[in-house]
Amino acid sequence: MKRLLFLAFLTPFVVATSILGVSSSEWHALNVSVGGRLHTARPFSLPCFSIYNGERVMMDEEACGAIQANYTSPNFRLESFSANMNVEYETCMSTGSKCLLSPGSPLNTTGMSCDQGQVPPYYIDIQTAADVKAAFEFSAHAGVPLSIKNTGHDFMGRSRRKDSLGIWTHNLQSMTYHTEFTPSECTASYRAITVGAGVTFEQVYKFAEDNDATFIGGYAQTVGVSGGWMMGGGHSVLSPSFGLGVDRVVEIKLVTPDGKLRIANSCQNEDLFWALRGGGGGTFGVVLESTHQVEPRMPIQVINMTFSPTSSNLPEYFSILVNNSVRWGTEGWGGHVNRQPAGILYVNPRLSLGEATNSMAQLSAFAARNNGSAVLQTLPSWYEFFLNFVVAAQAAVGNSMVLGSRLIPKANFESTEGRAKIVAHLLTQNAQFGMPYIPVGTPISFNYTPGATSVTPAWRDSIWHLSTGVTWPPNSTIQSIRTTLGKLHDFVHQDLTALAPNSGAYMNEGDVYESDHEFTYWGDNYARLLAVKRKYDPRGLLDCWRCVGWKGAAEFPCFPQLD
Ligand SMILES: Cc1cc2nc3c(=O)[nH]c(=O)nc-3n(C[C@H](O)[C@H](O)[C@H](O)COP(=O)(O)OP(=O)(O)OC[C@H]3O[C@@H](n4cnc5c(N)ncnc54)[C@H](O)[C@@H]3O)c2cc1C
Ligand SMILES: *[C@@H]1O[C@H](CO)[C@@H](O)[C@H](O)[C@H]1NC(C)=O
Ligand SMILES: *[C@@H]1O[C@H](CO)[C@@H](O)[C@H](O)[C@H]1NC(C)=O
Ligand SMILES: *[C@@H]1O[C@H](CO)[C@@H](O)[C@H](O)[C@H]1NC(C)=O
Ligand SMILES: *[C@@H]1O[C@H](CO)[C@@H](O)[C@H](O)[C@H]1NC(C)=O
Ligand SMILES: *[C@@H]1O[C@H](CO)[C@@H](O)[C@H](O)[C@H]1NC(C)=O
Ligand SMILES: *[C@@H]1O[C@H](CO)[C@@H](O)[C@H](O)[C@H]1NC(C)=O
Ligand SMILES: *[C@@H]1O[C@H](CO)[C@@H](O)[C@H](O)[C@H]1NC(C)=O
Repeated sequence: MKRLLFLAFLTPFVVATSILGVSSSEWHALNVSVGGRLHTARPFSLPCFSIYNGERVMMDEEACGAIQANYTSPNFRLESFSANMNVEYETCMSTGSKCLLSPGSPLNTTGMSCDQGQVPPYYIDIQTAADVKAAFEFSAHAGVPLSIKNTGHDFMGRSRRKDSLGIWTHNLQSMTYHTEFTPSECTASYRAITVGAGVTFEQVYKFAEDNDATFIGGYAQTVGVSGGWMMGGGHSVLSPSFGLGVDRVVEIKLVTPDGKLRIANSCQNEDLFWALRGGGGGTFGVVLESTHQVEPRMPIQVINMTFSPTSSNLPEYFSILVNNSVRWGTEGWGGHVNRQPAGILYVNPRLSLGEATNSMAQLSAFAARNNGSAVLQTLPSWYEFFLNFVVAAQAAVGNSMVLGSRLIPKANFESTEGRAKIVAHLLTQNAQFGMPYIPVGTPISFNYTPGATSVTPAWRDSIWHLSTGVTWPPNSTIQSIRTTLGKLHDFVHQDLTALAPNSGAYMNEGDVYESDHEFTYWGDNYARLLAVKRKYDPRGLLDCWRCVGWKGAAEFPCFPQLD
């Protein structure tokens, strides 16, 4: 609204040179106020095209070669503000405005236009709290919406918004180790690591190892520690023993939408601290750094079990997983039920190798009978596990992908009937979407402080974060994207919901079109989260897709409507 009014008063000449309804002199003033760190953003793959937004441009063969060669590399994409890991969010799905290549094969782009899609025309490379304050003031005054991007991993594209001013926190790269960290104005102290908002897991895992510590974090090199992961929940394969990301953070430094630099911990701005521990990224302010409690360096037991799935052995496989899951969770096992190769990769920080071997005996015997293997071993630290397993299995990105999921309560695993239902569901899911991908990283045997975090309470008594996903090729039509998204949505809201009707889902890895996202992502915490949102962002300067205080789909026109 504000932007339209603003436009109406400009002369035609200024309109012609304005971007997002803001004159070039005002953009210049913003640039000066952020120390020259305002940048233009063009689509990631533009160097491979000779037409940009309908106009002829020069291709850049060398830059294009590097983009093609590294198109699916998370580390390469991490360095570009314009790149997302899930590339549909670089595009405007509902209009087809995009600039994508085909992963794997060079694409003949002759005659094809590279269009801006959802990539903001400008972004600020954040260095200081004052940069963030300037961005909020500019947004309030000029009516230009904001978007906050860290690594661009978000599965709902919450780090993008069409025609927004981008805030990029990637270059906040500090790391500090504390043998004793006392949150400001508190008395208790913790062994902890403080990271700038741009720090990723591969960085902090190495840093923790160098300090003889274990950092509890996600299963990916390039996901950010302090952004969507931490604020949305943050599961780890070590979460069964050591809790979620929201359980480990002890202090957050952020700039709230009123422009104030604040410290949130359990002794000051407690309401904000609670909301930031589960309410989600992009909602309550721009985080500059966060401090997390660490564990000592410790040996980790690992089981790498694979087998050849067939229609005759799958029921037994699923039955073994389901029958053992409560015991495994109690013993401290966490990991993933994998799609390709089929099997599990679990870790345990509490058992000895002998205990671990006994614990997994039924599964190991199954693998031996089904053309598979189960290798148990002890690695001396989490970082050694990370190097050997997580890095080796790094998920390729650069494709279009979304997820849908539900947290499956422990109670479902505790009756014969409940277990049979889960097995039946897994067989159906396998038939429709392929082998289920199940992060087993709920904090099931972690002794949490009730009421300290705002994630859905479903996390606390669930055993599995049962998920599925869909992908589609870069040249898909708008209609086929809608059909694909709709098929996933229906499966989540029919089959998966029937399995766990009163549970919830992980807000970072749920269905993009979740029907009742307030309850599903936050349960009873939603009303209080909304009150905190209104207190710290009364002007509604921050908004993202199905986030706390979301203003609705009309504000995000690039998401197509389902049929
Ligand atoms: C390959 C892959 C592996 C994953 N593995 C795991 C896993 O093991 N465990 C797990 O729990 N999740 C995992 N995820 C999901 C991940 O937690 C989410 O995608 C999360 O949103 C990523 O946060 P980000 O800050 O890195 O990404 P971004 O897309 O940059 O940001 C995500 C959200 O946080 C906001 N945000 C980012 N930075 C800031 C900031 N400084 N201040 C305020 N808001 C900010 C953004 O606006 C956006 O709303 C994985 C995702 C992928 C693609
Ligand atoms: C902002 O200022 C810097 C330094 O003067 C300049 O390099 C940069 O191009 C400017 N950004 C924009 C978008 O004009
Ligand atoms: C990208 O690909 C090229 C060609 O394969 C390679 O030489 C380069 O190291 C890769 N990484 C970057 C950051 O360019
Ligand atoms: C690329 O496509 C254009 C237009 O469709 C066509 O004329 C040209 O021959 C193609 N080039 C190659 C190398 O295939
Ligand atoms: C799982 O447990 C049920 C009893 O609840 C039992 O009938 C079934 O055989 C078990 N499955 C396997 C593979 O051991
Ligand atoms: C056994 O496993 C190997 C490797 O996973 C696979 O190539 C082969 O097809 C499998 N054989 C059978 C009979 O399933
Ligand atoms: C896990 O086991 C499978 C099957 O033996 C093997 O192919 C794979 O490389 C192993 N993973 C790692 C990281 O060692
Ligand atoms: C997309 O490209 C593939 C080849 O890469 C082709 O087989 C398919 O027909 C194309 N689909 C559309 C909708 O153009």
